[in-house]
Amino acid sequence: MKIAVYPGSFDPMTNGHIDLIRRGTELFDQIIVGVLENEDKKPLFNTDERVEMVREALLDLPSVRVQSFTGLLVNFMKSTHANVVVRGLRAVSDFEYEFQMALMNRELSPTVETIFMMPAVEYTYVSSRLVKEVCRLGGDVTRLVPQNVLVKLHERFGAPA
Ligand code: PNS
Repeated sequence: MKIAVYPGSFDPMTNGHIDLIRRGTELFDQIIVGVLENEDKKPLFNTDERVEMVREALLDLPSVRVQSFTGLLVNFMKSTHANVVVRGLRAVSDFEYEFQMALMNRELSPTVETIFMMPAVEYTYVSSRLVKEVCRLGGDVTRLVPQNVLVKLHERFGAPA
C-alpha cells in the first residue's frame, strides 16, 4: 500500500492544491493531507476551519484523508505509516526552500522520500498568500479556490461589489 502525505498550511486551500491532490490519487493508494497546526503564525483560519475546508473540498476523493498535525513532519509520517512526502513545485523560486526541506527531512528520517509534482499551468501563479491578499482588497478569486473556501473568504473579507 503506497501512502503519501501532502503537508501544508492550507490557509486556505486553493485550486492549485486540489489539482495536485487529484494528480496524486493516480499515483498513491492513499493520500493523507496533513494540515499544520501553526496557530503561532496567526493563520487567517484556525486549524479546525482549515481541516474542514480541505475535507469538504475533497469529499469526492475516497482515497484522501485529512488530518492536522503538530511538530515535525517526519514524526507525523511515522504515525501515519507513510514514507512519501508530496510537495508542489510551481516555479524555480519554490525550489530552494523545498530542496532544503526535503533534505532536512531525509536527514531526520532516511526512509522518507519527497516527490515533487507540478500543478496544471493555470495554477502556477496561485498561492494562499496572494489569494488572501487579493480577496482582502476586494478582488475576485472565484476561479482560484473551491466554492466552500470562497464562501469562507467572503465571510471574512466581504464579497466583492
Ligand atoms: O504550505 P507550507 O506552509 O509551505 O507548508 C510547510 C510545511 C507544513 C510542509 C512545513 O512547514 C513543515 O513540514 N512543518 C512541520 C515542522 C517540520 O517538520 N519542520 C522541519 C521541516 S524540514
